[in-house]
Amino acid sequence: MNKKALITGINGQDGSYLSEFLLKKGYEVWGTVKRNSVSETQSSRIEHLLKDGKVKLEYADLTDMSSLIRIIQKVKPEEIYNLAAQSHVRVSFDQPIYTTNVTGLGTLNLLEACRMVSPNSKIYQASSSEMFGNNIDDDGYQRETTPMNPVSPYGCAKVFSYNICRNYRNSYGMKIWNGILFNHESPRRGTNFVTNKVVKAAVRIKLGLQEKLHLGNLDATRDWGHAKDYVEAMWLMLQSTLKPDDYVCATGVSHSVKDLCDYTFNKLDLDFRDYVVIDEKHMRPEELYDLKGDSTKLRSELGWTPKYTFETMLDEMTEYWLNKYE
Ligand code: NAP
Ligand code: GDD
Repeated sequence: MNKKALITGINGQDGSYLSEFLLKKGYEVWGTVKRNSVSETQSSRIEHLLKDGKVKLEYADLTDMSSLIRIIQKVKPEEIYNLAAQSHVRVSFDQPIYTTNVTGLGTLNLLEACRMVSPNSKIYQASSSEMFGNNIDDDGYQRETTPMNPVSPYGCAKVFSYNICRNYRNSYGMKIWNGILFNHESPRRGTNFVTNKVVKAAVRIKLGLQEKLHLGNLDATRDWGHAKDYVEAMWLMLQSTLKPDDYVCATGVSHSVKDLCDYTFNKLDLDFRDYVVIDEKHMRPEELYDLKGDSTKLRSELGWTPKYTFETMLDEMTEYWLNKYE
């Protein structure tokens, strides 16, 4: 019998790559989608997986525990990947209560549903480097032991989820892993996140479809990896024969938003300084300045190694947008 996996937020960037990864491993893949008035967009990233019924979808929302109970009861999955969230940091300042309900309390709804109807399922929780805020260890990295000091409603909600997962693991012996993932991107990344926003705009400018690119803080640095590499880390955690634990997943290399613009525009024989406009609208009330992760634990205990670099990832994203417009 094939193993069954349930992915919340299956139509997100990570959900789509994880579905492909699990299907290749022979899993029966189930996913939850949130109802949208435009039905095409609620499964747009996984259209190619729906054709032969490879992936099975159910409506569910993290804020509606009854919907979670219903699907977990129906599927009884061996593995649950909780990827659903309001995942945009800037938006979390505009919608703090909604973000907390989904990204924070939503996780507790899922844990309770699971505890009631499928307590032996293994659970992956999508925790985030945003939880560290501006805390950095003396050597310049963040790791599992770095104290958490979130600087956004999103980060605060993720810290709650991280802690409640640890609490359920310790209190009830549930098999729950927190993957503390640093930023990861791809051609499927939402274009309101900075990498895909920059790449898409640079290609449009090159093709004469756009004149300027409005951005916020260019000095912030991030440790950017590729989503394909990171979904493998999620799976590795749930295959571990060690006790359930928390793992940082990161490349260990960081770049500024300015570096990102420089590399992307250069590749297209453009100078970003001629096109980028600094716009207050994209600044955050409190900024997280620098992220660089140490994933030694994940690499040494579970054998994870990323295949993409910052450059090969951006090249793939540029290629995607060039093909799309040409
Ligand atoms: P994403 O593209 O924004 O996908 C999030 C998914 O969650 C979407 O399918 C979304 O559906 C769904 N969702 C939103 N609200 C929901 C709700 N109330 N109930 C059920 N589903 C809901 O995010 P991602 O980049 O794939 O990230 C996956 C997870 O990892 C998220 O939890 C994110 O916070 C976390 N994370 C991401 C990164 C990163 O760099 N990508 C790093 C660390 C942690 P709609 O599209 O219909 O809204
Ligand atoms: N989105 C965006 N748009 N960010 C901008 C812009 C802009 O126009 N201009 C500058 N930035 C800066 C932000 O201020 C931030 O410092 C950096 O670019 C990265 O922003 P995002 O791409 O929006 O990602 P994020 O780091 O805030 O959050 C992502 O990574 C987290 C992990 O660290 C999200 O995927 C979160 O869900 C994830 O947890």
